[in-house]
Amino acid sequence: MERTELPIAVFDSGLGGISVLRALVQRLPGEDFLYFGDSANAPYGVRPVAEVRRLTQDVIGRLYDRGIKAAVIACNTATSAAIGPLRAAFPDIPVIGIEPALKPAVAHHRRVLVLATPLTLREEKFVALMHQCAGCAEIVPLPCPELVEFVERGELDSPALTAYLARQLGPYAGRVDAAVLGCTHFPFARRAIRAALGGNVTLYDGSDGTARETLRQLVRRGWVRGGSRHAGKQPPVRAAAQPPAARPASGGLTAYADRTHSLSAHRFQYVRRHAGARRDRPRPLAGRGDHAAPAGVSRADRAHA
Ligand code: DGL
Repeated sequence: MERTELPIAVFDSGLGGISVLRALVQRLPGEDFLYFGDSANAPYGVRPVAEVRRLTQDVIGRLYDRGIKAAVIACNTATSAAIGPLRAAFPDIPVIGIEPALKPAVAHHRRVLVLATPLTLREEKFVALMHQCAGCAEIVPLPCPELVEFVERGELDSPALTAYLARQLGPYAGRVDAAVLGCTHFPFARRAIRAALGGNVTLYDGSDGTARETLRQLVRRGWVRGGSRHAGKQPPVRAAAQPPAARPASGGLTAYADRTHSLSAHRFQYVRRHAGARRDRPRPLAGRGDHAAPAGVSRADRAHA
């Protein structure tokens, strides 16, 4: 198959990267996407760096063998731990990472809270970014590892989440002007985060910046499917506004191959690795427009591989 025709891999420790997938679909509407969420091993943010690096390299290696033209590491944690080794291991494709959107936040605000995983916040990449931005604003890094697990469980507005956020964020309410959502899971809890911090706070995330960088990399190589005129900003996609439903009770690798009305021109395949996963291969991508699966990533029909 021609390189241009291959899908773009999007990887996260779990569901969070779907917030980046949404931006990618808007910027690159003609592309196919292969999404891999490593739910069996989430959360990554409390694991040692070497382990996150190994898990990430393992998944990207499997997706690369299947045939991809780019890999988007839609996980701040995995980017911090593994982006350098990944680029060295797969030099013939662009490997795009994500980082907390601190630069745009400090350009417009004086007091900025950064919510991310403990690993992201202590790694060299973020420490360097923070030094770079330190002269522009007061920056407060705040690890929120439990928030990843709330989102993984699909718990976006439960009393337990509200209580957790009140404890974590309450002390900053009215004291910060902006908050950076430095973990791709967090945009799914945007509403609850805003409620805990107060309505005037501006929230930033890195998903569109990552999508723009992916577009740039593909344009540079002439690998945009259907040519560069098929790229650009599209109207908002509703489908990925919610993460998929909670994981199925049974173990095993689950492949989601679906097509939605709001993603009507696109296909993507969604693969999650669950606890006790078999080392199965993802299902092949369904033919363009061939089956009418239920609407919405959030209601993705499951096809157990
Ligand atoms: N979604 C990931 C991130 O952006 C990490 C979540 C986790 O701890 O697994 O950092």
